[in-house]
Amino acid sequence: MTELAYSAAAERNKQAILTVLRTFLPPRGVALEIACGTGQHVAWFGANLPQWTWEPTDLKADLFPDIMVRIGEARLGNVLPPRLLNVLGEAWRIEREDPDLIYCANMLHIAPWSCCAGLMRGAARHLAAGGRLVTYGPCLEDDVSTSEGNLKFDAALRDENPDWGIRRREAVEQVAHAAGLQLVARHAMPANNLLLVWERAD
Ligand SMILES: C[S@@+](CC[C@H](N)C(=O)[O-])C[C@H]1O[C@@H](n2cnc3c(N)ncnc32)[C@H](O)[C@@H]1O
Repeated sequence: MTELAYSAAAERNKQAILTVLRTFLPPRGVALEIACGTGQHVAWFGANLPQWTWEPTDLKADLFPDIMVRIGEARLGNVLPPRLLNVLGEAWRIEREDPDLIYCANMLHIAPWSCCAGLMRGAARHLAAGGRLVTYGPCLEDDVSTSEGNLKFDAALRDENPDWGIRRREAVEQVAHAAGLQLVARHAMPANNLLLVWERAD
């Protein structure tokens, strides 16, 4: 096996995320992944939801060779080659139009706040009728006390880059509403993460 770019967190959380996705995804469809990172999530979901077609994308292409190897080694015919996609781009250039699922894990806190609006507007523009956006990652919430771990993580993120930081769910919801999306489900996940499901408000 080749030594590939690896995220211990992605390895830990991929099954818990898949378990939740299985509760509401239809048996088949097209999924667009935003901010795919190492590609561990898309490889896991591709292998375990074989009737779905997956298109991984990211702002940066440096891990794309590793993702190609990961997809090849797992013989995943349902995962497309990764593509460059910046959520801030006016037009998202994607291979498979009208995705039924747009999936974005762990980007909102490690990107400028403007990326939240970019993600929401792009999802509202591109989702198929009845499609869903799923966001996953740490989140602060007005009516839920913040764990010590998330407070420390938030401080460390802001130290590293003042534009980063754990976002407040209510603020993300406001941005989503402005883009025409509404929150339809909230799943508390291990290690103080949230999996949020969004749909077009109309
Ligand atoms: C912490 S990694 C998350 C990777 C993977 N989703 C996971 O959960 O392991 C954050 C990713 O967000 C991507 N990213 C940051 N800004 C972005 C933008 N404007 N558009 C698309 N992706 C972006 C980075 O390139 C990086 O791969």
